[in-house]
Amino acid sequence: MTTWDQAALISPPIRPMRGPSEPPIVNPIEHPIANQRVRLGIMASGSGSNFEAIVQAIHAGQLNAEVTVLIYNNPTATVVDRATRLNIPAICLNHRKFATRELLDQAIVEVLVSYQADWVVMAGWMRIVTPVLIHAFPNRVLNIHPSLLPSFKGSKAIEQAFQSGVKITGCTVHHVVTEVDSGDIVMQAAVPVLTNDTLETLQARLQIQEHKIYPAAIAIAVGQGIIEN
Ligand code: GRF
Repeated sequence: MTTWDQAALISPPIRPMRGPSEPPIVNPIEHPIANQRVRLGIMASGSGSNFEAIVQAIHAGQLNAEVTVLIYNNPTATVVDRATRLNIPAICLNHRKFATRELLDQAIVEVLVSYQADWVVMAGWMRIVTPVLIHAFPNRVLNIHPSLLPSFKGSKAIEQAFQSGVKITGCTVHHVVTEVDSGDIVMQAAVPVLTNDTLETLQARLQIQEHKIYPAAIAIAVGQGIIEN
């Protein structure tokens, strides 16, 4: 039986209706594009549970990708321990050492380019990014946000949803554009707010869904999802 605790509404992109004379939808698993291993650069500021979920999904064969580098901005972030354990190069770019957001982003771009990243995955990157980064990887920067966007944008999303009294919140993977938390949505999962929830229990339930949808959303965004031929 499905309980509210387990329920999640996952919403991949809606495919247009197809007529009988149109060619069939091709399973990407058998499609050449899906065989191209995409090179990911991941940016994280804290615990890195989403970073690890993406790496584990790759190891499990759910995403044809390689994480070429982790960039983190907080020297004490525990994500670096995960990177060490998972044998992924980790580069610290401490934002406090850069005079402007643009200079930090320029350094990030240089690291991503030197590690030959094709796509940029922000996984709990707690800094606003600038056009310097966004334009260096056009339509190839993804982020995960702990609300059902466009509701509750910004850095206090879970708290705001919790205090607002909504009965359903969730998480969103979206493309990154210059306006914060506003790019095209790739995938969402819904999460109920229970009457006995605390911020901590709600956050824990949200993260379970984040770890499921982020690898799946990356696969869709890079073209390993359903491909229309
Ligand atoms: C996630 O909840 C994500 O939605 C938000 O930051 C958190 C990062 O968690 N942007 P983690 O570091 O991946 O555990």
